[in-house]
Amino acid sequence: MVTDELRAEVARLKKERDAVVLAHYYVTPEVQELADHVGDSFALSRLAATLPASTLVFAGVSFMAESAKLLSPDKVVLMPEPTADCPMAHMVRRETIDRAREQYGDDLAVACYVNSTAEVKSWSDVCVTSSNAVRIVRALPQSNVLFIPDRHLGRFVAEQVPEKNVILNDGFCPIHQAISAAEVEALKAAHPGAPVLAHPECGPEALALADFAGSTSQIIDRAAELAPADCIILTVDGVRAELERRCPSTRFHFPSTRPACPDMERITAERLAACLRDGAGEVGLPPEDVARGARAALDRMLELGR
Ligand code: 13P
Ligand code: SF4
Repeated sequence: MVTDELRAEVARLKKERDAVVLAHYYVTPEVQELADHVGDSFALSRLAATLPASTLVFAGVSFMAESAKLLSPDKVVLMPEPTADCPMAHMVRRETIDRAREQYGDDLAVACYVNSTAEVKSWSDVCVTSSNAVRIVRALPQSNVLFIPDRHLGRFVAEQVPEKNVILNDGFCPIHQAISAAEVEALKAAHPGAPVLAHPECGPEALALADFAGSTSQIIDRAAELAPADCIILTVDGVRAELERRCPSTRFHFPSTRPACPDMERITAERLAACLRDGAGEVGLPPEDVARGARAALDRMLELGR
């Protein structure tokens, strides 16, 4: 629980530093409570590009803070827990891109999930998030699309956009992939008729049992729209705080293995306050050629929009 003293100190430090705190839905409820904006990856990228504050404190994993710095290079971007990282962000090899470009030439676009390092983004033509991947891939002029790094989001996109040849890479999110079809079947048996809302990073067997797949914000919006008595959620249980706030009369059920992102959970309210206090955890820009390429891919995503 956040104490009144800590809440007051964070508010004072934010004012002194002209800082805004951005938090992803997967961080703990305490950190979400101290944030000025809580959102999914796309909403947070858009905010990072447009907020007037001179300092952004990013309560999320490194690819999120790095994207914020690329989109707002003149701002100070701080990470309360600089070692918080997303394993999937590294699951692409350069030769996968080179091979595809050699094979398909100009009729290939490389679509890169924002859950990727700046270097991986710089090899790509456009970034996507789980909230806009289908729309962006559909709108690309090329008929072949190499989707990196997540094979599960890539497969979900391929199913929604059958007119394109979507080539998959073999990256994955260990947390979403671990949600088993057996767990989902058990939840469905325990709560018959409850809608199943899933993140598209889930594996194909679990996702096949879902009624809806979308980003964390889209899952929350869908639950609020349906307002069911019971609802089954297949994503990291950090979304629970916002689900319960938006849908007070719905009982939410998560897989019994409790999907949690260990890197996101390392960000604590104390570390957030410490980072505002001493300005530690500053995120730097990558080398200029990497920054240029990565920013172009992110800008293209923002242009193509939601
Ligand atoms: P969102 O695109 O819903 O923010 O998800 C990001 C993420 O890391 C999912 O694991
Ligand atoms: Fe990465 Fe998975 Fe954590 Fe999302 S939940 S940040 S994809 S490890």
